Amino acid sequence: MDFTLSEEHLMLRKVVREFAAKDVLPTIKACEPRHEFPRELLPKMAEMGLLGVCLPVRYGGAGFDYIALGIVSEAMEWADSSVRETIAVHVGLNSLPIFQWGNEAQKQKYLVPQAKGTKLACFGLTEPGAGSDVAALNSRAKRVGDKYLLSGEKMWITLADEADHMLVFAKTDPAAGHRGISAFIVERGFPGLTTGTIEGKLGVWAGNTGWISMDNCEVPAENLLGKEGEGFKIAMSALDNARFTVAAGAVGIIRSCLEASVAYAHQRETFGKPIAQHQLVQQLIAQMVQRHEIGQLLVNKVGRLKNRGARNTRETSLAKWYCTEAAFQSASDAIQIHGAYGYSNEYNMERHLRNSKGAVIYEGTSQIHQLVQAQYALGFKTDKPMRCELPAYDPDYWQAEA
Ligand code: CAA
Repeated sequence: MDFTLSEEHLMLRKVVREFAAKDVLPTIKACEPRHEFPRELLPKMAEMGLLGVCLPVRYGGAGFDYIALGIVSEAMEWADSSVRETIAVHVGLNSLPIFQWGNEAQKQKYLVPQAKGTKLACFGLTEPGAGSDVAALNSRAKRVGDKYLLSGEKMWITLADEADHMLVFAKTDPAAGHRGISAFIVERGFPGLTTGTIEGKLGVWAGNTGWISMDNCEVPAENLLGKEGEGFKIAMSALDNARFTVAAGAVGIIRSCLEASVAYAHQRETFGKPIAQHQLVQQLIAQMVQRHEIGQLLVNKVGRLKNRGARNTRETSLAKWYCTEAAFQSASDAIQIHGAYGYSNEYNMERHLRNSKGAVIYEGTSQIHQLVQAQYALGFKTDKPMRCELPAYDPDYWQAEA
Protein backbone atom coordinates (compact mmCIF):
# COMPACT_ATOMS: atom_id res chain seq x y z
CA MET A 1 0.00 0.00 0.00
CA ASP A 2 1.43 3.39 -1.02
CA PHE A 3 1.27 5.86 1.89
CA THR A 4 2.62 8.86 -0.04
CA LEU A 5 0.61 12.01 0.60
CA SER A 6 -0.44 14.11 -2.41
CA GLU A 7 0.50 17.81 -2.78
CA GLU A 8 -3.09 18.67 -1.73
CA HIS A 9 -2.82 16.52 1.39
CA LEU A 10 0.51 18.10 2.34
CA MET A 11 -0.89 21.59 1.85
CA LEU A 12 -4.02 20.78 3.88
CA ARG A 13 -1.86 19.34 6.67
CA LYS A 14 0.34 22.44 6.73
CA VAL A 15 -2.62 24.83 6.84
CA VAL A 16 -4.51 22.91 9.55
CA ARG A 17 -1.40 22.41 11.68
CA GLU A 18 -0.74 26.16 11.53
CA PHE A 19 -4.36 26.85 12.49
CA ALA A 20 -4.08 24.36 15.38
CA ALA A 21 -0.93 26.05 16.70
CA LYS A 22 -1.89 29.71 16.14
CA ASP A 23 -5.63 29.75 16.82
CA VAL A 24 -6.84 26.50 18.38
CA LEU A 25 -4.25 25.99 21.11
CA PRO A 26 -4.44 29.52 22.58
CA THR A 27 -8.26 29.38 22.49
CA ILE A 28 -8.26 26.02 24.27
CA LYS A 29 -5.80 27.26 26.88
CA ALA A 30 -8.32 30.01 27.69
CA CYS A 31 -11.57 27.97 27.41
CA GLU A 32 -10.52 24.66 28.92
CA PRO A 33 -9.99 25.72 32.55
CA ARG A 34 -13.43 27.41 32.41
CA HIS A 35 -15.03 24.24 30.92
CA GLU A 36 -16.20 26.29 27.94
CA PHE A 37 -16.93 24.97 24.46
CA PRO A 38 -14.71 26.95 22.02
CA ARG A 39 -17.64 28.15 19.90
CA GLU A 40 -15.60 30.99 18.44
CA LEU A 41 -13.50 28.47 16.48
CA LEU A 42 -16.48 27.11 14.52
CA PRO A 43 -16.81 29.91 11.90
CA LYS A 44 -13.11 29.60 11.05
CA MET A 45 -13.34 25.78 10.94
CA ALA A 46 -16.33 26.11 8.61
CA GLU A 47 -14.53 28.65 6.41
CA MET A 48 -11.57 26.28 6.11
CA GLY A 49 -13.93 23.47 5.07
CA LEU A 50 -13.08 21.34 8.11
CA LEU A 51 -16.74 20.69 8.98
CA GLY A 52 -17.33 19.03 5.60
CA VAL A 53 -13.77 18.12 4.70
CA CYS A 54 -14.40 14.76 2.97
CA LEU A 55 -17.82 15.52 1.52
CA PRO A 56 -18.47 16.32 -2.13
CA VAL A 57 -18.62 19.96 -3.19
CA ARG A 58 -22.16 19.39 -4.53
CA TYR A 59 -23.26 18.75 -0.91
CA GLY A 60 -21.46 21.77 0.50
CA GLY A 61 -18.25 19.89 1.34
CA ALA A 62 -14.62 20.74 0.66
CA GLY A 63 -14.24 17.85 -1.85
CA PHE A 64 -11.27 16.17 -0.16
CA ASP A 65 -11.01 12.40 0.30
CA TYR A 66 -11.25 10.28 3.45
CA ILE A 67 -7.47 10.44 4.02
CA ALA A 68 -7.97 14.19 4.50
CA LEU A 69 -10.42 13.50 7.34
CA GLY A 70 -7.58 11.69 9.12
CA ILE A 71 -5.11 14.49 8.39
CA VAL A 72 -7.45 17.10 9.85
CA SER A 73 -8.20 14.96 12.92
CA GLU A 74 -4.49 14.42 13.63
CA ALA A 75 -3.68 18.11 13.23
CA MET A 76 -6.57 19.30 15.42
CA GLU A 77 -6.12 16.84 18.30
CA TRP A 78 -2.47 17.82 18.51
CA ALA A 79 -3.99 20.95 20.09
CA ASP A 80 -6.97 19.45 21.94
CA SER A 81 -9.40 16.55 21.83
CA SER A 82 -12.51 18.76 21.97
CA VAL A 83 -12.01 20.20 18.48
CA ARG A 84 -11.30 16.79 16.95
CA GLU A 85 -14.36 15.37 18.73
CA THR A 86 -16.48 18.06 17.08
CA ILE A 87 -15.26 16.88 13.68
CA ALA A 88 -15.69 13.19 14.63
CA VAL A 89 -19.29 13.63 15.66
CA HIS A 90 -20.39 16.26 13.16
CA VAL A 91 -18.69 14.70 10.11
CA GLY A 92 -18.07 11.05 11.03
CA LEU A 93 -21.18 10.20 13.00
CA ASN A 94 -23.77 12.43 11.37
CA SER A 95 -22.86 13.87 7.95
CA LEU A 96 -21.23 10.73 6.54
CA PRO A 97 -24.17 8.48 7.54
CA ILE A 98 -26.56 10.92 5.85
CA PHE A 99 -24.28 10.89 2.78
CA GLN A 100 -24.18 7.07 2.86
CA TRP A 101 -27.76 6.21 3.81
CA GLY A 102 -29.82 9.36 3.14
CA ASN A 103 -32.13 10.15 0.25
CA GLU A 104 -31.59 13.24 -1.92
CA ALA A 105 -34.11 15.37 0.00
CA GLN A 106 -32.37 14.57 3.33
CA LYS A 107 -28.99 15.38 1.81
CA GLN A 108 -30.21 18.74 0.54
CA LYS A 109 -31.98 19.63 3.78
CA TYR A 110 -29.46 18.41 6.35
CA LEU A 111 -26.15 17.46 4.75
CA VAL A 112 -25.60 20.69 2.79
CA PRO A 113 -25.81 23.09 5.78
CA GLN A 114 -23.81 20.65 7.92
CA ALA A 115 -21.02 20.29 5.38
CA LYS A 116 -20.90 24.08 4.98
CA GLY A 117 -20.72 24.34 8.75
CA THR A 118 -23.79 26.54 9.15
CA LYS A 119 -25.52 23.82 11.20
CA LEU A 120 -23.84 21.59 13.78
CA ALA A 121 -24.80 17.93 14.17
CA CYS A 122 -24.42 15.16 16.74
CA PHE A 123 -25.15 11.44 17.26
CA GLY A 124 -27.48 10.02 19.90
CA LEU A 125 -26.82 6.33 20.36
CA THR A 126 -25.55 5.73 23.92
CA GLU A 127 -28.07 5.55 26.77
CA PRO A 128 -27.75 5.51 30.57
CA GLY A 129 -28.08 1.69 30.47
CA ALA A 130 -26.67 0.88 27.00
CA GLY A 131 -23.15 1.83 25.88
CA SER A 132 -21.09 -1.12 24.64
CA ASP A 133 -24.23 -3.22 24.14
CA VAL A 134 -25.90 -1.13 21.47
CA ALA A 135 -28.71 -3.63 20.85
CA ALA A 136 -29.85 -3.14 24.47
CA LEU A 137 -30.88 0.45 23.88
CA ASN A 138 -34.25 1.31 25.33
CA SER A 139 -35.52 4.32 23.33
CA ARG A 140 -38.69 3.66 21.40
CA ALA A 141 -40.17 5.08 18.19
CA LYS A 142 -43.81 4.59 17.23
CA ARG A 143 -45.25 5.56 13.87
CA VAL A 144 -48.43 7.66 14.23
CA GLY A 145 -49.73 8.96 10.90
CA ASP A 146 -47.07 10.99 9.14
CA LYS A 147 -44.89 11.23 12.28
CA TYR A 148 -42.83 9.06 14.58
CA LEU A 149 -43.08 9.64 18.31
CA LEU A 150 -39.69 9.05 19.98
CA SER A 151 -39.29 8.48 23.72
CA GLY A 152 -36.15 7.71 25.69
CA GLU A 153 -32.92 9.07 27.15
CA LYS A 154 -29.50 9.43 25.54
CA MET A 155 -26.36 10.03 27.59
CA TRP A 156 -22.69 10.92 27.09
CA ILE A 157 -23.59 12.61 23.81
CA THR A 158 -20.88 14.87 22.40
CA LEU A 159 -22.36 18.24 21.33
CA ALA A 160 -25.80 17.37 22.81
CA ASP A 161 -26.29 20.94 23.98
CA GLU A 162 -24.67 22.56 20.94
CA ALA A 163 -25.97 20.66 17.91
CA ASP A 164 -28.79 21.82 15.64
CA HIS A 165 -29.39 18.33 14.19
CA MET A 166 -29.09 14.93 15.87
CA LEU A 167 -28.99 11.42 14.47
CA VAL A 168 -30.95 9.49 17.09
CA PHE A 169 -31.48 5.73 17.38
CA ALA A 170 -34.65 4.15 18.77
CA LYS A 171 -36.44 0.81 18.52
CA THR A 172 -39.36 0.62 16.09
CA ASP A 173 -39.63 -3.14 16.73
CA PRO A 174 -38.42 -3.92 20.27
CA ALA A 175 -38.87 -7.68 19.80
CA ALA A 176 -36.43 -7.80 16.87
CA GLY A 177 -33.20 -7.12 18.82
CA HIS A 178 -30.57 -5.21 16.83
CA ARG A 179 -32.72 -5.56 13.69
CA GLY A 180 -35.51 -3.54 15.36
CA ILE A 181 -33.47 -0.32 15.70
CA SER A 182 -34.12 2.65 13.38
CA ALA A 183 -32.30 5.95 12.84
CA PHE A 184 -33.96 9.38 12.82
CA ILE A 185 -32.78 12.88 11.99
CA VAL A 186 -34.05 15.04 14.84
CA GLU A 187 -33.90 18.83 14.84
CA ARG A 188 -33.47 20.94 17.93
CA GLY A 189 -36.88 22.51 18.42
CA PHE A 190 -38.93 19.42 17.57
CA PRO A 191 -41.68 19.18 20.25
CA GLY A 192 -40.76 16.84 23.10
CA LEU A 193 -36.96 17.20 22.81
CA THR A 194 -34.76 18.58 25.59
CA THR A 195 -30.99 18.49 26.06
CA GLY A 196 -28.52 19.29 28.80
CA THR A 197 -24.82 19.29 29.62
CA ILE A 198 -23.08 16.74 31.87
CA GLU A 199 -20.65 18.28 34.37
CA GLY A 200 -17.77 16.70 36.23
CA LYS A 201 -15.81 14.90 33.48
CA LEU A 202 -12.16 13.92 34.02
CA GLY A 203 -11.15 15.44 30.69
CA VAL A 204 -12.21 17.14 27.45
CA TRP A 205 -13.29 20.16 29.47
CA ALA A 206 -13.59 22.25 26.29
CA GLY A 207 -15.90 19.65 24.75
CA ASN A 208 -19.65 19.66 25.21
CA THR A 209 -20.94 16.32 26.51
CA GLY A 210 -24.55 15.95 27.47
CA TRP A 211 -27.85 14.17 27.47
CA ILE A 212 -30.86 14.12 25.16
CA SER A 213 -34.34 13.47 26.51
CA MET A 214 -37.25 12.60 24.22
CA ASP A 215 -40.81 12.61 25.53
CA ASN A 216 -43.06 11.66 22.60
CA CYS A 217 -40.72 13.78 20.49
CA GLU A 218 -42.47 14.45 17.18
CA VAL A 219 -40.29 13.54 14.20
CA PRO A 220 -41.68 13.76 10.63
CA ALA A 221 -41.78 10.33 8.96
CA GLU A 222 -39.52 11.60 6.16
CA ASN A 223 -36.75 12.00 8.78
CA LEU A 224 -36.31 8.24 9.06
CA LEU A 225 -32.75 7.61 7.77
CA GLY A 226 -32.56 4.44 5.69
CA LYS A 227 -35.32 1.92 6.33
CA GLU A 228 -36.97 0.83 9.55
CA GLY A 229 -34.69 -1.75 11.21
CA GLU A 230 -31.49 -0.50 9.55
CA GLY A 231 -30.47 1.62 12.54
CA PHE A 232 -27.91 -0.81 13.98
CA LYS A 233 -26.05 -1.01 10.67
CA ILE A 234 -26.24 2.77 10.21
CA ALA A 235 -24.79 3.25 13.71
CA MET A 236 -22.00 0.71 13.18
CA SER A 237 -21.08 2.10 9.76
CA ALA A 238 -21.03 5.61 11.27
CA LEU A 239 -18.71 4.36 14.01
CA ASP A 240 -16.35 2.99 11.33
CA ASN A 241 -15.89 6.63 10.28
CA ALA A 242 -15.70 8.28 13.67
CA ARG A 243 -13.34 5.66 15.13
CA PHE A 244 -11.00 6.52 12.26
CA THR A 245 -10.96 10.15 13.42
CA VAL A 246 -10.41 9.02 17.03
CA ALA A 247 -7.39 6.93 15.95
CA ALA A 248 -5.97 9.72 13.78
CA GLY A 249 -6.52 12.27 16.55
CA ALA A 250 -4.72 10.03 19.03
CA VAL A 251 -1.70 10.07 16.70
CA GLY A 252 -1.83 13.88 17.00
CA ILE A 253 -1.65 13.57 20.80
CA ILE A 254 1.37 11.27 20.51
CA ARG A 255 3.06 13.78 18.18
CA SER A 256 2.41 16.60 20.64
CA CYS A 257 3.84 14.53 23.53
CA LEU A 258 6.88 13.50 21.49
CA GLU A 259 7.68 17.03 20.29
CA ALA A 260 7.36 18.46 23.80
CA SER A 261 9.42 15.65 25.35
CA VAL A 262 12.26 16.02 22.85
CA ALA A 263 12.41 19.79 23.34
CA TYR A 264 12.31 19.50 27.14
CA ALA A 265 14.88 16.69 27.24
CA HIS A 266 17.40 18.91 25.45
CA GLN A 267 16.72 21.89 27.68
CA ARG A 268 16.40 20.38 31.17
CA GLU A 269 19.58 19.34 33.01
CA THR A 270 20.04 16.89 35.86
CA PHE A 271 23.27 15.47 37.29
CA GLY A 272 25.29 17.90 35.19
CA LYS A 273 23.89 17.07 31.75
CA PRO A 274 20.69 17.43 29.69
CA ILE A 275 18.17 14.71 30.55
CA ALA A 276 18.31 13.78 26.83
CA GLN A 277 21.63 12.12 27.70
CA HIS A 278 20.02 9.79 30.26
CA GLN A 279 19.21 6.39 28.81
CA LEU A 280 15.97 5.89 30.74
CA VAL A 281 14.63 9.15 29.25
CA GLN A 282 15.83 8.01 25.82
CA GLN A 283 13.87 4.79 26.31
CA LEU A 284 10.63 6.71 26.97
CA ILE A 285 11.23 8.82 23.86
CA ALA A 286 12.04 5.77 21.72
CA GLN A 287 8.78 4.13 22.79
CA MET A 288 6.86 7.27 21.82
CA VAL A 289 8.55 7.25 18.40
CA GLN A 290 7.51 3.62 17.97
CA ARG A 291 3.88 4.32 18.94
CA HIS A 292 3.73 7.35 16.68
CA GLU A 293 5.02 5.43 13.68
CA ILE A 294 2.78 2.36 14.22
CA GLY A 295 -0.24 4.61 14.82
CA GLN A 296 0.41 6.51 11.60
CA LEU A 297 0.67 3.27 9.62
CA LEU A 298 -2.62 1.91 11.00
CA VAL A 299 -4.45 5.19 10.31
CA ASN A 300 -2.96 5.58 6.83
CA LYS A 301 -4.10 2.10 5.92
CA VAL A 302 -7.70 2.80 6.98
CA GLY A 303 -7.82 6.07 5.01
CA ARG A 304 -6.74 4.26 1.87
CA LEU A 305 -9.25 1.43 2.39
CA LYS A 306 -12.02 4.02 2.75
CA ASN A 307 -10.93 5.81 -0.43
CA ARG A 308 -11.24 2.51 -2.29
CA GLY A 309 -14.71 1.88 -0.89
CA ALA A 310 -13.44 -1.25 0.90
CA ARG A 311 -14.98 -2.33 4.23
CA ASN A 312 -12.64 -1.36 7.04
CA THR A 313 -14.47 -2.30 10.25
CA ARG A 314 -11.68 -4.58 11.49
CA GLU A 315 -8.83 -2.26 10.49
CA THR A 316 -10.58 0.80 11.98
CA SER A 317 -11.24 -1.04 15.22
CA LEU A 318 -7.57 -2.08 15.42
CA ALA A 319 -6.38 1.48 14.73
CA LYS A 320 -8.77 2.94 17.33
CA TRP A 321 -7.74 0.43 20.00
CA TYR A 322 -4.00 0.76 19.39
CA CYS A 323 -3.79 4.53 18.89
CA THR A 324 -5.92 5.54 21.89
CA GLU A 325 -4.00 3.27 24.29
CA ALA A 326 -0.75 4.54 22.75
CA ALA A 327 -1.80 8.17 23.22
CA PHE A 328 -2.70 7.59 26.88
CA GLN A 329 0.64 5.88 27.55
CA SER A 330 2.54 8.59 25.65
CA ALA A 331 0.86 11.36 27.64
CA SER A 332 1.77 9.57 30.85
CA ASP A 333 5.40 9.12 29.73
CA ALA A 334 5.64 12.72 28.56
CA ILE A 335 4.52 13.88 32.01
CA GLN A 336 7.18 11.62 33.52
CA ILE A 337 9.87 13.24 31.37
CA HIS A 338 8.67 16.72 32.34
CA GLY A 339 8.52 15.79 36.03
CA ALA A 340 6.52 18.18 38.20
CA TYR A 341 6.15 20.66 35.30
CA GLY A 342 4.39 17.95 33.29
CA TYR A 343 1.96 17.50 36.14
CA SER A 344 0.92 21.16 35.88
CA ASN A 345 -1.18 22.82 33.22
CA GLU A 346 1.77 24.96 32.14
CA TYR A 347 2.38 22.22 29.55
CA ASN A 348 -0.18 20.32 27.46
CA MET A 349 0.53 16.80 28.66
CA GLU A 350 -1.72 16.71 31.72
CA ARG A 351 -4.61 17.78 29.45
CA HIS A 352 -3.69 15.11 26.88
CA LEU A 353 -3.60 12.49 29.66
CA ARG A 354 -7.08 13.42 30.90
CA ASN A 355 -8.45 13.68 27.36
CA SER A 356 -6.94 10.46 26.03
CA LYS A 357 -8.46 8.43 28.86
CA GLY A 358 -11.85 9.33 27.38
CA ALA A 359 -10.81 8.03 23.98
CA VAL A 360 -9.98 4.56 25.31
CA ILE A 361 -13.59 4.42 26.55
CA TYR A 362 -15.78 6.16 23.96
CA GLU A 363 -16.57 4.81 20.50
CA GLY A 364 -15.95 1.27 21.66
CA THR A 365 -13.87 0.55 24.76
CA SER A 366 -10.50 -1.17 24.32
CA GLN A 367 -12.21 -4.31 25.62
CA ILE A 368 -14.88 -4.18 22.86
CA HIS A 369 -12.16 -3.71 20.22
CA GLN A 370 -10.22 -6.69 21.56
CA LEU A 371 -13.37 -8.80 21.27
CA VAL A 372 -13.88 -7.55 17.71
CA GLN A 373 -10.28 -8.44 16.77
CA ALA A 374 -10.56 -11.90 18.30
CA GLN A 375 -13.91 -12.53 16.60
CA TYR A 376 -12.48 -11.70 13.16
CA ALA A 377 -9.35 -13.82 13.80
CA LEU A 378 -11.39 -16.79 14.99
CA GLY A 379 -13.83 -16.56 12.11
CA PHE A 380 -16.81 -15.73 14.35
CA LYS A 381 -17.30 -12.36 12.62
CA THR A 382 -17.26 -11.59 8.90
CA ASP A 383 -18.34 -8.47 7.01
CA LYS A 384 -21.61 -8.73 5.13
CA PRO A 385 -22.41 -6.39 2.21
CA MET A 386 -24.68 -3.51 3.20
CA ARG A 387 -27.59 -2.09 1.20
CA CYS A 388 -25.74 1.26 1.17
CA GLU A 389 -21.94 1.18 1.26
CA LEU A 390 -19.87 4.32 1.94
CA PRO A 391 -19.03 5.42 -1.64
CA ALA A 392 -15.44 5.08 -2.82
CA TYR A 393 -13.70 8.41 -3.32
CA ASP A 394 -13.95 9.64 -6.90
CA PRO A 395 -12.29 13.06 -7.36
CA ASP A 396 -14.39 13.87 -10.45
CA TYR A 397 -17.62 13.34 -8.53
CA TRP A 398 -16.39 14.87 -5.25
CA GLN A 399 -15.03 18.05 -6.78
CA ALA A 400 -17.75 18.76 -9.36
CA GLU A 401 -20.18 21.55 -8.48
CA ALA A 402 -23.26 19.39 -9.25
N1 CAA B 1 -21.15 -1.73 9.45
C1 CAA B 1 -22.34 -2.24 8.99
N2 CAA B 1 -22.97 -3.29 9.55
C2 CAA B 1 -22.38 -3.86 10.60
C3 CAA B 1 -21.17 -3.42 11.14
C4 CAA B 1 -20.54 -2.31 10.51
N3 CAA B 1 -19.38 -1.80 10.96
N4 CAA B 1 -20.84 -4.16 12.20
C5 CAA B 1 -21.80 -5.07 12.34
N5 CAA B 1 -22.73 -4.89 11.36
C6 CAA B 1 -23.93 -5.70 11.14
C7 CAA B 1 -23.59 -7.18 11.02
O1 CAA B 1 -23.31 -7.52 9.67
C8 CAA B 1 -24.84 -7.84 11.52
O2 CAA B 1 -25.79 -7.85 10.47
P1 CAA B 1 -27.06 -8.85 10.41
O3 CAA B 1 -28.11 -8.26 11.28
O4 CAA B 1 -27.46 -8.85 8.97
O5 CAA B 1 -26.59 -10.19 10.91
C9 CAA B 1 -25.33 -6.88 12.58
O6 CAA B 1 -24.76 -5.61 12.30
C10 CAA B 1 -24.93 -7.30 13.98
O7 CAA B 1 -23.52 -7.39 14.01
P2 CAA B 1 -22.73 -8.17 15.12
O8 CAA B 1 -23.37 -9.52 15.32
O9 CAA B 1 -21.28 -8.12 14.79
O10 CAA B 1 -23.03 -7.29 16.40
P3 CAA B 1 -22.65 -7.65 17.89
O11 CAA B 1 -23.87 -7.38 18.67
O12 CAA B 1 -21.96 -8.95 18.02
O13 CAA B 1 -21.46 -6.66 18.25
C11 CAA B 1 -20.52 -4.66 19.04
C12 CAA B 1 -21.61 -5.39 18.24
C13 CAA B 1 -19.19 -4.78 18.33
C14 CAA B 1 -20.35 -5.10 20.47
C15 CAA B 1 -21.08 -3.28 18.95
O14 CAA B 1 -22.29 -3.26 19.66
C16 CAA B 1 -20.15 -2.19 19.35
O15 CAA B 1 -19.32 -1.80 18.58
N6 CAA B 1 -20.33 -1.66 20.59
C17 CAA B 1 -19.68 -0.43 20.98
C18 CAA B 1 -20.59 0.72 20.64
C19 CAA B 1 -19.92 2.04 20.66
O16 CAA B 1 -18.86 2.23 20.09
N7 CAA B 1 -20.61 3.01 21.30
C20 CAA B 1 -20.14 4.37 21.40
C21 CAA B 1 -21.08 5.29 20.65
S1 CAA B 1 -20.48 6.91 20.71
C22 CAA B 1 -21.75 7.87 21.35
O17 CAA B 1 -22.90 7.50 21.33
C23 CAA B 1 -21.40 9.12 22.03
C24 CAA B 1 -20.80 10.17 21.18
O18 CAA B 1 -21.29 11.28 21.16
C25 CAA B 1 -19.56 9.94 20.44
